[in-house]
Amino acid sequence: MSLEAELEPGAPIERDGGPLLEVDHLKVLFPIKAGVLVDRKVGFVHAVDDVSFELRSGETLGIVGESGCGKTTLIRALVRLIDATDGAIRFRGADITRSGRKDLEPIRREMQMVFQDPQASLNPRKRVSQILATPLGMRGVAKGRMQEESHRLLQRVGLHPEHINRFPHEFSGGQRQRIGIARALAVDPRLIMLDEPVSALDVSIQAQVINLLDELQEEFHLSYLFVAHDLSVVRHVSDRIVVMYLGKLMEVSPAEELYSRPIHPYTSALLGAIPLPDPNENRARDRPTITGEPPNPIRPPSGCRFHTRCPRATEICRSVEPQLTEYAGGHLAACHHPQHVTAHEIAESTRSPTSPASAGDEPPTADE
Ligand SMILES: Nc1ncnc2c1ncn2[C@@H]1O[C@H](COP(=O)(O)OP(=O)(O)OP(=O)(O)O)[C@@H](O)[C@H]1O
Ligand code: SF4
Ligand SMILES: [Mg+2]
Repeated sequence: MSLEAELEPGAPIERDGGPLLEVDHLKVLFPIKAGVLVDRKVGFVHAVDDVSFELRSGETLGIVGESGCGKTTLIRALVRLIDATDGAIRFRGADITRSGRKDLEPIRREMQMVFQDPQASLNPRKRVSQILATPLGMRGVAKGRMQEESHRLLQRVGLHPEHINRFPHEFSGGQRQRIGIARALAVDPRLIMLDEPVSALDVSIQAQVINLLDELQEEFHLSYLFVAHDLSVVRHVSDRIVVMYLGKLMEVSPAEELYSRPIHPYTSALLGAIPLPDPNENRARDRPTITGEPPNPIRPPSGCRFHTRCPRATEICRSVEPQLTEYAGGHLAACHHPQHVTAHEIAESTRSPTSPASAGDEPPTADE
């Protein structure tokens, strides 16, 4: 069966109750080239390095990590804007990892992206009506109904329909992001990848845009991959959260559990970086922090990639990559010396099949 047939509109959202999106040992390595006359590959940027997870229908999965850890590369690979080096991507059960342009057309309608910088992602020379016309056309909206549909969309994202003939620069940052959301919604997608959708906005506007995304998810049965660089933004929107570091998954957890019981030291450090509203409490609290910049992704550290900055690192961390270990409740963490777990929980834990192939078999050890 062709991909087009497999993914025909109206086909069941989940096949056999399976996940909407499956990411299976995905790698994206960018070659580094050198040489004047002949390009030689002299290394690779390990942007996404053996990453596996699933997204269920209607779920919001937060993806968090410091700048350069591979979040944007990951979602660009998932929407097939860049090619995967290895691994597989399945959407509604169909393998789309190496699908050609024509096969990807139906998928492009179902998976949309909203970018961090609405200013840069909207064509400054196009009016809102023109920006919305292309995706509405993709959905099969006839020319005669275009204006009515555009008005409906603008209203739905909280903009005045009478502003349809304005250019992007005539709107505020928050309003521009609403146009970006309307553009994504116009094709009637199932999945929206949100790449830091509120990072460029003022805090008060952030909350409004997040509320809008929340309402739209409910109304249109959307699934979201929600990328952010800090854990405060994704807390209230995510069902589960993935924590990335230097191209690898460090922890995957139901959202609330990640905040109350971070197992990985890197997650604790990210939590410690969230400022408290009260400056006095902020100064007084004793929190784990990390210093310095993440290492170079061209030569990532051996063993656990976080070992050069981790306060708990020991010899094994420097030589053996930790497996992704599955604890109760679907909570995964890749750490030899996990926190907030008992010896009993460690004894009950198992190696996750989503562990990178390069990870060792050593089970985690309990605190002394
Ligand atoms: N086209 C490219 N060629 C080479 N290296 C790239 C390319 N795109 C990204 N990279 C590198 O891949 C790594 C991951 O980049 P990516 O943009 O995915 O990170 P990010 O987590 O989205 O960061 P940020 O929070 O700053 O947006 C970085 O080291 C980046 O420099
Ligand atoms: S494996 Fe070792 S270095 Fe890595 S996070 Fe755990 S304790 Fe730290
Ligand atoms: Mg990014």
